[in-house]
This record gives sequence, structure tokens and C-alpha cells, in this order.
Amino acid sequence: MRSMVAPPAELLSQAVISARVKELGAQIAADYAGKSLVLLCVLKGSFVFAADLARAIDLPLRVEFLGVRSYGDDTRSSGVVQITQDLTRPIAGDHVLIVEDIVDTGLTLSYLREQLLARMPATVKVCALLHKPSRTVTPVEIEYLGFTVADVFVVGYGLDHAEQFRNLPYVGVLTP
Ligand code: IMP
Ligand code: MG
Repeated sequence: MRSMVAPPAELLSQAVISARVKELGAQIAADYAGKSLVLLCVLKGSFVFAADLARAIDLPLRVEFLGVRSYGDDTRSSGVVQITQDLTRPIAGDHVLIVEDIVDTGLTLSYLREQLLARMPATVKVCALLHKPSRTVTPVEIEYLGFTVADVFVVGYGLDHAEQFRNLPYVGVLTP
């Protein structure tokens, strides 16, 4: 049965996202040439972005997945992150690029960065599709950023609301 809810209003089109992902991929490829690059996809929200980004980076690389769950309610991050699925291989000596869907308060990312640094990688950097600077609690460095967005709840291109809309091919805003 089809839902009666209006589809999310388009904020970033498929074409706009695709062009930006290609730019990011080219920049990353230039910066990491000759280095052992590990793309670290933070599940679940980053799976679409990571899949497109990986194919835009013309370099040998590895892909790892990290499952995380933030304690607290659905709309507010507590900053205490539970790792629900760990990496399959060590990252010691590797150049790790964390691939995130969106940086909101920054609490998740600052925690993750700290946890990963304990595993002695050569470097840890961040590539985020979206950033909501107006919501910053813990400032985190984002070395590669797709787009800055206003303080609205976005869905699509991997991002969900109650596990829905991850398969939307664009980034949209939920309309009440
Ligand atoms: P942070 O710890 O507040 O930076 O939380 C970031 C995480 O919250 C993201 O990885 C998303 O899973 C989720 N999140 C934050 N804002 C949104 C949004 O607008 N739409 C969907 N998920 C969001
Ligand atoms: Mg996320």
C-alpha cells in the first residue's frame, strides 16, 4: 500500500550530489596517492554515500564498516556511542578516512575519532556529506565536506527517519 505522506521536499538533487561526490573523490585521490587508504563507512547512514564515494576515488583502497548506535533518544545525540559492529581488520599504520553521512552535534564523530586513534592508524581524517554547523556542540574537523545545511531534519541518500527514506535518491526535507 502506498503511503499518504507527502514525499520529502528536494534539498539536494541527485545531479548536484553526484557532481560533488566526484569532486570529493578526485580531491581524495590526489591527497592519498601512494598511501594505504581505508574508507571507513559508518553504518547505517553512510552506506549510499560511501558506495558512490569509493567509486569516485581512482586509487587502490580498502573498505571497512563500523556499526554505531548512539545512546539516548532518536533526535538527540548523547555522545556516548556503542559500537555494534567492529572492523574486520586492524588499521594500524593505515590512513583511515571516516565516511559520515552527516555531522550534527559532532559528538558521535569526536568519540569515534578518539576510539580509532587508540588503534594506532597513521592518520584519521573525515569525509562528511553534510554538516549542520548551527547545531555544533563539540567542534570537529571535517577535512572533506560535501554540503553545509541549515538546521532542518534531512532524509534520503542513506539518511533515515525511523529507518525510512534511506533509499530516496536525493536529499530532502520532511514536510509535516
Ligand atoms: P551527532 O553526534 O549529533 O553529530 O550525530 C550525527 C548522527 O545523527 C548522524 O550520523 C545521523 O545518523 C544522525 N542525524 C543527525 N541529523 C540528522 C538528520 O537531519 N537526518 C538524519 N539523521 C541525522
Ligand atoms: Mg551516522
